[in-house]
Amino acid sequence: MRLLVTGGAGFIGSAFVRHVLGAGQADSVLVLDKLTYAGNMDNLAEAAADPRFQFLRGDIAEPADVEAAVNQAQPGAVVHFAAESHVDRSILSPEPVIRTNLNGTFTLLEAAKRHGIARFVHVSTDEVYGSIPEPHDADETYPLIASSPYSASKAGSDLLALSYFRTFGLNVSVTRASNNYGPFQFPEKLIPLMIANALEGKPLPVYGNGMQVRDWLFVEDHCRAILAVLRQGRAGEIYNIGGNRSLPNIEVVRRIIAATGCSPDLIRWVTDRPGHDVRYALTSAKLERETGWQPQVAFEDGLERTVAWYRTHRDWVDRVRSGEYRRFYDQNYGNR
Ligand code: NAD
Ligand code: TYD
Repeated sequence: MRLLVTGGAGFIGSAFVRHVLGAGQADSVLVLDKLTYAGNMDNLAEAAADPRFQFLRGDIAEPADVEAAVNQAQPGAVVHFAAESHVDRSILSPEPVIRTNLNGTFTLLEAAKRHGIARFVHVSTDEVYGSIPEPHDADETYPLIASSPYSASKAGSDLLALSYFRTFGLNVSVTRASNNYGPFQFPEKLIPLMIANALEGKPLPVYGNGMQVRDWLFVEDHCRAILAVLRQGRAGEIYNIGGNRSLPNIEVVRRIIAATGCSPDLIRWVTDRPGHDVRYALTSAKLERETGWQPQVAFEDGLERTVAWYRTHRDWVDRVRSGEYRRFYDQNYGNR
């Protein structure tokens, strides 16, 4: 199969590219990526040596860029990761989030329809369900009650993708995964930010009371699930992907403190995030039933591997935390 992978220079997209090439699951992979602050060619260094791999720098919200990518890749399937993916940035600056996540997804769907592309996997998030009260777990029929500009833009793009199945018969599946963690994650999200700061003895900023709950999914488990949906998922269907591991944020931070050996005194209780979702919880029973997929990496092992990766990739962290990151960091944490 020839794949067009959008956002393949980011955290999950690059892991997916490594996974499909490593597993011999693609004849060719073309990554279309704008290389925003979150996109990084270092993440694709391993893939770049593979003759099946190609890269095109371009914006999914620009029809000409998408057209060029489709013409070059001649894809049998699109796997769509590209997004502005961070809640805090979507609060500080929603415009690029709306543009990429909504207009970009629209532009890709239009191209897929025009070119008759046989398969389209739209990669989304459990955040579209909003905060889930105890004791419920969201299945794929749970209402969309998105809280942030990020999650609302993902909910909108999910509905748009599904409408292209219902109205135009495009072979689309939507995946909704829980919080991912693992190597190559940009240090703006909870786990890599805490690890990077802990390794440097910097403060660990915990929002609010730290009791918000997230379900944690190791990135390689997520990539296997997306491949399963690409191969076996049904058109017009949504598939939740969870790690079966719910933890309050403060517990995650305590485990990072233990794994890095830093001082607990580094914890800083800071002002809560506006509109902060208290609890995410989902069931992936449908995916498990239809494809046999299950998460394989226990949180303890995944966290150990992730901490080890950040320890040995300080140069990667230094490079991605250049000027733009410092501006964001000051804006987000400066007056908290
Ligand atoms: P990321 O921020 O690490 O990477 C996003 C990539 O998209 C980057 O390479 C960036 O350069 C690229 N990109 C951004 N705007 C673009 C545009 N206009 N045109 C082309 N490329 C563009 O994100 P991630 O964490 O790897 O997330 C990937 C996908 O998975 C997103 O759709 C996100 O909503 C979804 N998701 C993420 C998580 C998570 O925990 N990180 C969980 C569930 C779902
Ligand atoms: P994050 O990684 O931004 O993912 P999301 O908001 O998409 O779930 O945050 C995960 C949780 O960690 C969320 O409840 C917010 C919290 N958090 C902090 O307490 N401090 C931080 O510095 C960050 C980035 C997140």
